[in-house]
Amino acid sequence: MSKIIEPFQIKNYVLKNRIMMAPMCMYQAQDGYANDFHYVHYATRAQGGAALIVLEATAVLPDGRISVNDLGIWSDQHIEGLSKIARLIKENGAHAGIQISHAGRKARVETSYAPSKLVFEGLKEPKELTLEEIEDTILAFKEAAVRADKAGFDFLEIHGAHGYLINQFISPLTNKRTDKYKQGTTFLKEIIKAIKSVWPKEKVIQLRVSTNEYDPKGLTVKDYAELLKDIDVDMINVSTGGVVLRKVDAYPLYQIDDAKFIKDHINKPVIGGGLLTNIADIEKALESVDLVYLGRLLLRDPFFIARKFEDFLIKPYERAKQKR
Ligand SMILES: Cc1cc2nc3c(=O)[nH]c(=O)nc-3n(C[C@H](O)[C@H](O)[C@H](O)COP(=O)(O)O)c2cc1C
Repeated sequence: MSKIIEPFQIKNYVLKNRIMMAPMCMYQAQDGYANDFHYVHYATRAQGGAALIVLEATAVLPDGRISVNDLGIWSDQHIEGLSKIARLIKENGAHAGIQISHAGRKARVETSYAPSKLVFEGLKEPKELTLEEIEDTILAFKEAAVRADKAGFDFLEIHGAHGYLINQFISPLTNKRTDKYKQGTTFLKEIIKAIKSVWPKEKVIQLRVSTNEYDPKGLTVKDYAELLKDIDVDMINVSTGGVVLRKVDAYPLYQIDDAKFIKDHINKPVIGGGLLTNIADIEKALESVDLVYLGRLLLRDPFFIARKFEDFLIKPYERAKQKR
């Protein structure tokens, strides 16, 4: 049997296979609200056989949006649309997760905020966050977790990767502060602590990180193997890059060695992926990691998994029977 269709258990959740749909911004929201595009988009990928679907970077504050068309979770009014997405994902056979995010200096909004006044190539200079603003941002992550829970998501992914705000606090390339939020994981740890005070214990928290900054002065996977040791989450999603603009030599499986390194150094399930487009490469990746994320492949081909493994095709008559 292919490893791809081996179930995977985390806490009391049993994923029916090893495929997670990667969080991917669709830039289709207005004022953060979900709409018909999102309902169709996510329900279709659930029908297509992914075991876990993690919604695109969903902004915890309006100023934390990568673009003004990002999904948002900064208001209670966003809960209704998000609940509908979560319900559709679950009714169509997958588990529902959401990535909560703040873009920091990479936000393409009127005013962007960051740990330090350092520009991301091609974007505006950010304002340096005051201590009070940092506290407000931590609170925004906490409130986002409350809303994600109310909306029915069971997996919460904290976006600590790709050079967005949390990553900006962690990296020496973007954080030159000298106060308690100096370069490192203090900001991240406070966010996790705040989230854990409201997120149900039986539900899953995962953290996405960029384990290679592709810069001689940036962090590497060895740094991350150390700093993740005392980060209290259930699962790690390994990606790379995005902190500064660099050309990356990307090829199938190119991030899997990093994911394996993290798995070998911390005692937690690890999700890996990047440029995986066929069964052989996915199976190869699963020799090193617990789950694989698929991104662009599932945009192009939502039914990739269902087509390859017929067991996961939705059987409408059986579902109808169950409903009677
Ligand atoms: C259109 C698009 C939007 C993305 N948005 C996000 C995002 O919101 N959050 C995130 O962590 N990664 C995001 N990514 C990165 C993907 O999650 C994934 O890591 C990347 O596409 C590599 O996987 P793939 O080769 O299977 O596509 C995005 C990628 C694409 C193509």
